[in-house]
Amino acid sequence: MPESSTVEPQVLDHECDGIREYDNALPGWWTFLFWACILFSPLYIVYYHIGVGPSIYLELDDEMAAAAEAQLAQLGPMPVDVSTILGVAADPKKLLIGRSMFRTNCSVCHAADGGGNAGPNLCDDTYINIRSPLDFFRVMHDGVVPKGMPAWSPRYNNTQLVVLAGYVASLRGGTPAAPKAAQGDLKPAAWSTFLTPSTSTLEAPK
Ligand code: HEC
Repeated sequence: MPESSTVEPQVLDHECDGIREYDNALPGWWTFLFWACILFSPLYIVYYHIGVGPSIYLELDDEMAAAAEAQLAQLGPMPVDVSTILGVAADPKKLLIGRSMFRTNCSVCHAADGGGNAGPNLCDDTYINIRSPLDFFRVMHDGVVPKGMPAWSPRYNNTQLVVLAGYVASLRGGTPAAPKAAQGDLKPAAWSTFLTPSTSTLEAPK
């Protein structure tokens, strides 16, 4: 290094096994970043951990729901009838969309695996309002508002509700982690029996 180019670095007095240490000033950009991080961190904590900033889980849920809605838009409108609802229940791709909507909106009350919480267990054979797969659509569309089940028609269109209905129908017979005790006294026949012509047109909701 040419002698005239820099200030002579200061060498500290102490020495260990022949190793000596310089005491150079830290570069300006480094000190700037150091203080910038320290000033940024309380703002971050206040916004994301105490204040209104979204958590990564919320952001993920929003993205999943948006992706599910985009996928549904591609499918086009689906008719509201038993065979379409049961068709969803047998279609793994559509079930994924239904599951994403269910986890985002329904798991608070019905548990992520459908085992029930404030709302009833959707995996057992017993239902409060369900006589046919079409009733899933009806209950979600109109809700059972006085009992605490919201109406979902303001949030979802009929096609989305058909997909959700198929997903919830598919939960029957599942084994949730913490099943809530059975509620209601309706025990509908196996869903497949509703595909026979005599029952498949049962009072389709408008
Ligand atoms: C705020 C709590 C809450 C949320 C959120 C909620 N539910 Fe419910 N749900 C209930 C309650 C309570 C009932 C029981 C209604 C009754 O007693 O008739 C119910 C009933 C149902 C039933 C009928 C079950 C039966 O045995 O008759 C279905 C199906 C259902 N919910 C699906 C859903 C779906 C799908 C979602 C999400 C889109 C959802 N629920 C969101 C509280 C909720």
